[in-house]
Amino acid sequence: MDTGKAIGIIVNNPEFADVRSLEGVAPTKNRTVFTIAVPTTAGTAAEATINYVITDVEKKRKFVCVDVNDIPDVAIVDPDMMSSMPKGLTASTGMDALTHAIEGYTTKAAWELADCLNLKAIELIAKNLRGAVQNEDAGREGMALGQFVTGMAFSNVGLGIAHSMAHTLGAVYDTPHGVACAMMLPIVMEYNAECTSEKFKDIAEAMGVDTTGMDQAAYRQAAIDAVRKLSVDVGIPTKLEALREEDLDFLAESAFADACCPGNPRETCVEDLKNLFRKLM
Ligand SMILES: NC(=O)c1ccc[n+]([C@@H]2O[C@H](COP(=O)([O-])OP(=O)(O)OC[C@H]3O[C@@H](n4cnc5c(N)ncnc54)[C@H](O)[C@@H]3O)[C@@H](O)[C@H]2O)c1
Ligand SMILES: [Fe+2]
Repeated sequence: MDTGKAIGIIVNNPEFADVRSLEGVAPTKNRTVFTIAVPTTAGTAAEATINYVITDVEKKRKFVCVDVNDIPDVAIVDPDMMSSMPKGLTASTGMDALTHAIEGYTTKAAWELADCLNLKAIELIAKNLRGAVQNEDAGREGMALGQFVTGMAFSNVGLGIAHSMAHTLGAVYDTPHGVACAMMLPIVMEYNAECTSEKFKDIAEAMGVDTTGMDQAAYRQAAIDAVRKLSVDVGIPTKLEALREEDLDFLAESAFADACCPGNPRETCVEDLKNLFRKLM
């Protein structure tokens, strides 16, 4: 879908023939070609979002293009299209959607309308991802809906450094996007917790935790634990074997330059990002 979005933009805006010129907020003049987007995974919500992500294989980086002209005219979100996904792909793409919802709920630009959608999406994903991985109809339906609901929200408010770091891991080690998001999400939640006021209480509750009597430290930990448990339950690894100490400078600098980085609720720096990557080793 992202490749299709880039091609559609370039067809109608040929002055951007080098896709690299579209990185960040792209000043295109014309809408894309008429586009019908049909997701076959329940994760990216690219059928609804303002973004597309392209890999620059020469420079070993993935970059995000942000452009209102690229939103598809029609989205056909049908869980039947997703039913052929194997377990691992269902799990990783579903964790991508959870990362959108949690990063979108806590990002700097978050506001009430997007919050409603992101919280509902967290609830839908927490309730349905395990069932989807078992290829149950209700689980597939809940995930098709959940990923789309957060797509409508995060597309308007942005994300955070779990995505910056996931883009970098995808470009350097070819780590599937959802696996990279799932591995980074609890690590980044721990790092961001102090800048999220009471939002982790809402996240914990949306994930089914009873937070009655919990103080701030306890509900923040409960939200992180619930994310870790879901990730482990659906079979996502917690360590990245490919990661090398000598790659950390490039990884951290690349993640710091990523378009999702400024939206992170906690101000970050290259050194902090290096330490966060190190937690995957
Ligand atoms: N546009 C956005 O807003 C946005 C948001 C998040 C991620 N992304 C980007 O999306 C990309 C990842 O997309 P994805 O997670 O959908 O995976 P994908 O499109 O890369 O597909 C992964 C693999 O699964 C296969 N596959 C897809 N659907 C299948 C099905 N129903 N049955 C069996 N196999 C199937 C594909 O052929 C491919 O080999 C990354 O580049 C990521 O950065 C974009
Ligand atoms: Fe994503």
